[in-house]
Amino acid sequence: MPESPIRKLVPFAEDAKKRGINVFHLNIGQPDIKTPQIALNAVKNNNIEVLSYARSEGSEKYREKLTTYYKKHAVNIIADEIIVTTGGSEALLFTFGSIMDPDDEVIIPEPFYANYNGFSTASGVKVVPVISKIENNFALPPIEEFEKLITKKTKAILICNPGNPTGYLYSKDEIKKLAKIVKKHDLFLISDEVYREFVYDGLTHHSVMQEPNLEQHAIMIDSVSKRYSMCGARIGCIVSKNKEVIATALKFAQARLSSPTYALIASEAALETPQSYFDDVIIEYVDRRNTLIAELQKIDGVKVAKPKGAFYCIAELPVKDADNFAQWLLEEFNLNHETIMVAPAAGFYSTKGLGSNQVRIAYVLKKEDLLRSVEILKAALEIYND
Ligand SMILES: Cc1ncc(COP(=O)(O)O)c(C=O)c1O
Repeated sequence: MPESPIRKLVPFAEDAKKRGINVFHLNIGQPDIKTPQIALNAVKNNNIEVLSYARSEGSEKYREKLTTYYKKHAVNIIADEIIVTTGGSEALLFTFGSIMDPDDEVIIPEPFYANYNGFSTASGVKVVPVISKIENNFALPPIEEFEKLITKKTKAILICNPGNPTGYLYSKDEIKKLAKIVKKHDLFLISDEVYREFVYDGLTHHSVMQEPNLEQHAIMIDSVSKRYSMCGARIGCIVSKNKEVIATALKFAQARLSSPTYALIASEAALETPQSYFDDVIIEYVDRRNTLIAELQKIDGVKVAKPKGAFYCIAELPVKDADNFAQWLLEEFNLNHETIMVAPAAGFYSTKGLGSNQVRIAYVLKKEDLLRSVEILKAALEIYND
């Protein structure tokens, strides 16, 4: 199993904290945004006497309520097309297990969410990357690039929309092009849409579930983690109109019995969150993104693409090895007893050598902390010598 580039430096961060250093966590997508009170209250204000298992696929009531949520996003599905999972992570793992055998291949535009490497390894599946570049704002490579990579072993194309770590948002036209090739080659199109709400600049998100005639091919991955700033709840789901996919994923769900009951209660209540919560959150993230990107662009030798969604960016740094640099930031550097933790980007690629001078930065901290973090990064780059 590959290490997670997001978490592997945690012991160095913990050591720094023990030495009295304040560490700004830009490494992980753990927002500081408050969880909706309605979700927290649902857990606090109940009188459960037996904390029992839930249904493997999630209760009918929760899945029914989820269909109402999806309808608001122009996704028309029924409760039986949903399997509730323990986070988007488990939804990905179940999906890989349900549609692929060991040695099968999945095509993924890279850089991609680092744990796709882990889930593929765990499932014995090979990642075949399609390279997108910082110079093109991580735009989807031409469709011919995907077609060139399709072999007899290819089972699926996996996209993350909007993208972690790039913040790339797929256009409706790009989704249509991908839909066309998956139909032509009889593949699955897995779309990880856990950041659906986090779309900026007046753009709209286009789900694979909105694409006509893609019913047998489309699989959507979802999660409450980022939407409601409920990462610790560990609830997500798989959505597909393909009955065989759902029936197979259900077997995986039955094997692990159920998702955690308290977290399901919180997730069901979170569906009542008013639109104003999201409106405020989006305003906050746009401000953070604009601040972060503008400040990074002021540093000599730093290259950054402007994200259109999610809450991450990839920054290219004037260093040879971002892994060493990220560790050095925690072990040896501080600016008035403060430092930053970033995620070295090589782990977000499967192609060896790519991303070695890049880091992923999550803009999940408030504006003042982001400003201070970039100040720390700038000072560090001025003295770092690799
Ligand atoms: C793109 C993407 N997919 C899936 C996940 C998994 O999220 P969770 O298991 O918390 O639902 C994450 C978490 O950061 C993510 O960024």
